[in-house]
Formats: sequence, structure tokens, C-alpha cells
Amino acid sequence: MLTVSDLNQYYGQSHILRDVALNIPPGRCVCVMGRNGVGKTTLLRCLMGLSPIRSGRVTFAGRDITKAKPETRAALGIGYVPQGRQIFPVLTVEENLKLPLPWRRGGGQKIPDLIYELFPVLKDMARRRGGDLSGGQQQQLAMARALVLNPTTLLLDEPTEGIQPNVTRDIINVVKRLVAEGLTVVEVEQKTTVAQKVGDLYVIIDRGQVVSEGKMGDLDDETIRSLLSV
Ligand SMILES: Nc1ncnc2c1ncn2[C@@H]1O[C@H](COP(=O)(O)OP(=O)(O)OP(=O)(O)O)[C@@H](O)[C@H]1O
Ligand SMILES: [Mg+2]
Repeated sequence: MLTVSDLNQYYGQSHILRDVALNIPPGRCVCVMGRNGVGKTTLLRCLMGLSPIRSGRVTFAGRDITKAKPETRAALGIGYVPQGRQIFPVLTVEENLKLPLPWRRGGGQKIPDLIYELFPVLKDMARRRGGDLSGGQQQQLAMARALVLNPTTLLLDEPTEGIQPNVTRDIINVVKRLVAEGLTVVEVEQKTTVAQKVGDLYVIIDRGQVVSEGKMGDLDDETIRSLLSV
């Protein structure tokens, strides 16, 4: 279980996240939704320990990780795929995937078979440079690289942003399969149609505050219209 309570975050004088509380149950996919600039990425960065928080508490698997460094959180099982992917463009696909192996939870010398099973396109492209892949393939590489670390919880920041429909479908299916197999996922998702396919629960952020949350099946048209439509 990943929990957040009373979280406040600032960039300089700007109060970005306000008294945010979250309970992410294990083995579920929670979609963090909200319009541009409301603080979704900042929230994931705070969960990963990449942005310092002013106040609040973050716990993971019963431990207080509020002050833990990103690498400590990764070692405990939190994986992170940032918005915009950030793979290594001059390294090959295979090199991108081998790089995290020394830090894999539970150890391991080779890229797990599961990675290429989930993302067959990466096997075909193993010797190609990351930067030469399409946007959709780079997104799959970024997710695969996070999974090499064997996380129990995966933070995904808009994995289908700017991705064509067939790859979006593949990514949704991968997330659903991983969640069915026990992974916990926190997915920032601006596309309501994608969130409704992938999420068990939703949390809507508006101007740094949680303004609505619940079961994805209960997300109604009025809430979508007032809080999500652009
Ligand atoms: N490094 C930074 N320094 C100062 N302000 C920042 C920084 N990063 C983000 N912000 C501001 O914080 C607010 C929240 O940004 P954030 O990236 O978390 O939003 P978001 O919900 O992820 O938006 P998007 O949907 O466009 O990805 C925005 O007003 C943004 O301009
Ligand atoms: Mg963002």
C-alpha cells in the first residue's frame, strides 16, 4: 500500500500541491486525472522522491519513506516512467534494458523473458538505437526499462500521450495484464477513454487539490464535463 497524507509542495513561491491525500491499494490501477498544469506530474515526482515536499507524509509497504531518496524508493519496489519517456537515445534498445539490471530487485543477469513477451517489438528492435525508435516504441522501451527493476508498484506519467491508437491499445493491454498479475499502478492519464479502460479507481486533481475520487465505474459524465473536459 502506498499512501500520502497532507502533502504540500511548492516550486519557489508557487503552492502546487495542496493537502493531497491518497491511498493506493495493492494490485489495483489508480488513474490520476486532471487538466494541464494541475500538478499531476509533480505528484508522481513527489511519490518518487524527485521533488522535495514542504509537508506531509508518504508511506510504502508500511514504511515511512517521506525522506527516502529516489534510489531507496526504487530498491523498495517503486518504479517510475516519466512523462516524455527519457530513454537513452544513443544506446541500443538492449543496452537501455541492460543498464538497470545491477539494481534489479531480487537480482538477475539478463533481461527477463517477460520484458520481450510484453513488448515483442523491442525484441525485433534490440540492436536499434533508442533514439531511432518511433514515439510509441520509445514509450514501450521506457516502460520495459522500469519493469527490468522488478517493481511492485509502477508510476506511469501519461504513457499514451501522443501515441497512435494501435500502440495505445498495446500499452493498455500490458498495464491490464500486469495489474491482473498483482502489480500496483498509479497512472497519470488525461484521456478519459484510456483511464476508463485501464483504471480500477480514479483521482481527479484540480489546482493542486484532490477534488473527486472513487471507483472508475462511478466516474459520471457531469464530473468529466466539469473537471476534465477542455
Ligand atoms: N520545475 C518547475 N519549476 C517551477 N514550476 C514548475 C516546475 N514544474 C512544474 N511547474 C509548475 O507547476 C504546475 C504543475 O505542473 P505539473 O507538471 O505537475 O502539471 P501536470 O498536471 O503534470 O500538467 P500536464 O498535464 O501538462 O503534464 C504548473 O503550473 C507548472 O507550470
Ligand atoms: Mg504532467
